[in-house]
Amino acid sequence: MTNATTGATSRVAKSMQLYERALEIIPGATQLISRRPSRFAYGVSPVFATHAKGGRFWDVDGNEYIDWVSGIGAVILGYADPVVDESVCRQLATGTMYSVNHEVELELAELLIDRIPCAEMVRYAKGGGEACAIAVRIARGATGRDKILFCGYHGWHDWYLAANLSAEASLDPHLFSGIDPTGVPRSLEGTSIPFPYGDLTALGQLLDDHHGEVAAIMMEPFRSDWPPQGYLEGVAALAKQHAVVLIFDEVSTGFRPSAGGSQPVLEVMPDMAVFAKSISNGYPMGAVVGKRDVMEPAATMFISSTYWSDTLGIQAAITTLSEVEKRDVPVKVREIGTQLQDGVNAAAKRTGIPAICQGVAFHPHIDFQLPDEALKEKIVTLFVQEMAKRGCFGMTSFYLNAAHDARDIEQTIGAVGEVFELMDHAMRDQRVDELLECDTKNDSFRRLVR
Ligand SMILES: Cc1ncc(COP(=O)(O)O)c(C=O)c1O
Repeated sequence: MTNATTGATSRVAKSMQLYERALEIIPGATQLISRRPSRFAYGVSPVFATHAKGGRFWDVDGNEYIDWVSGIGAVILGYADPVVDESVCRQLATGTMYSVNHEVELELAELLIDRIPCAEMVRYAKGGGEACAIAVRIARGATGRDKILFCGYHGWHDWYLAANLSAEASLDPHLFSGIDPTGVPRSLEGTSIPFPYGDLTALGQLLDDHHGEVAAIMMEPFRSDWPPQGYLEGVAALAKQHAVVLIFDEVSTGFRPSAGGSQPVLEVMPDMAVFAKSISNGYPMGAVVGKRDVMEPAATMFISSTYWSDTLGIQAAITTLSEVEKRDVPVKVREIGTQLQDGVNAAAKRTGIPAICQGVAFHPHIDFQLPDEALKEKIVTLFVQEMAKRGCFGMTSFYLNAAHDARDIEQTIGAVGEVFELMDHAMRDQRVDELLECDTKNDSFRRLVR
C-alpha cells in the first residue's frame, strides 16, 4: 500500500497519516526540528511512537525499534526507568508544584555543586535552549557587556539566532542551512558572533576586534569527537585574559562522559555550564550552574518563571544523577559504544564499504568516505532507510543509553552487515537510486562542532 501524497509504504502508513494531520494544524508539524521526518528516511522511518521501554520504542504502526537516538540524547538510563519513574510518581502524589518552594530545589542544587567542578550556585529551567538563554542573560548582567561569541548549537532563542541577521556572519555551515531569522529583532544584529571550533587564532582575533564588548564565550566543549589537545585550555586562557565569562553548553554531552559531566574528563573549568536532556532521563529539566562571582549577580536580575520550581523534573534529575553514578553509566555507555564501533568497522572491512565508525564511544558516528557528495547523500539515506526496515532507528550516529544491551548490539551489527552488503552491490550495479524508497534525507541542521 502506498500513500498518494507522501509516498509512504505500508510499514509506516499510520505515522504518515498522523504527520499529514499535524501539517494541517501544527506549523512545521513537529515541536523539534530533529523530529522532522525529512531528517530520516521519509515515508520509511517512523514519525509517531506509542510507547518506549529500555532501549526500544514502538511506532503507531506496531513496528519495534532499537532507539539509537535515545530521545535526542535526553534518555540516559533507558526509557521508563523504574527507579526514576517511581521517584517521580512519589513526588506526583504529593503535588507537582506549590505556591511556595520545595526542599528538592536545594537537594538538587547541592548534588550539582558536589558533582560539577565549576558549580557553586545553581538556577533551573525546563529545557536546554532556555537554560542557555538564562546563562547568556546572567553573563551579560554580570559583565555589563552585550556581545556573545559562540560556537555550537544553543537552541532557538533570539540571542542565538541574532547571528543570522548579519549577512557576513551566515550560519549556513553552522545551524540550519538557509535559515531566515524571521521574527528576530533586527536591532540584535551584531550581538552574537560565531567562531569556528578548534581555531584559537580566530577566537583571539574576535576578542581583540570586540575588545571590552564581549560578555561571554558560549560553546559546546565537544559533541561527538574529543576536542583537539590543548584547545579548551587555550579557550579558557583567552576568556581569562579578556575577562569574558566562559560558558560550556553541556546539554548534548550531559552526564555520559562522567557522573559530573564533561569537566572532570576535560580537566578544564569554565565559569558557567548549562545542562538539560540527560540530567533527568526525559523529564523536562534544565540547569545553569556556575562560579559564585558570576552567578550571584543573577539575584538582582529578573529571571523568573512558574514552572522552574516544578518538582517532577527536579526529582527526576536527583534520581537520574544518583542512578548514573550507582550504575556506573559512563563506563557502561563507553563499553557499549566501543562494541558498536568495533562491529560496524568490522562490517565495513568485510564488505569493502568505505565507512568508518569513530568519535567518542558514547556518541559514535559513521562517516561514509565517498568523494561524490551526491552519491554520499543517497548512501546515507539508503543506510537510514534499510536500518529502519531492520528495526534500528537512527541516523548515522548513535546516542547511547544504559539500557542498550548485548542483544541490541548484536541485532544492530547484524543489520549493518546486511545493509553494507546491499550498498556494496547497489554501488557496483549502479542501482542506488532504484533501491531508495524516499527522497534523500535533508540535514538542514548542522553543528559548529562535530
Ligand atoms: C548543545 C545543545 N544546547 C542546547 C540545546 C537545546 O536544548 P532544548 O532542545 O532542550 O531546548 C541542544 C539541543 O539539541 C543542544 O544539543
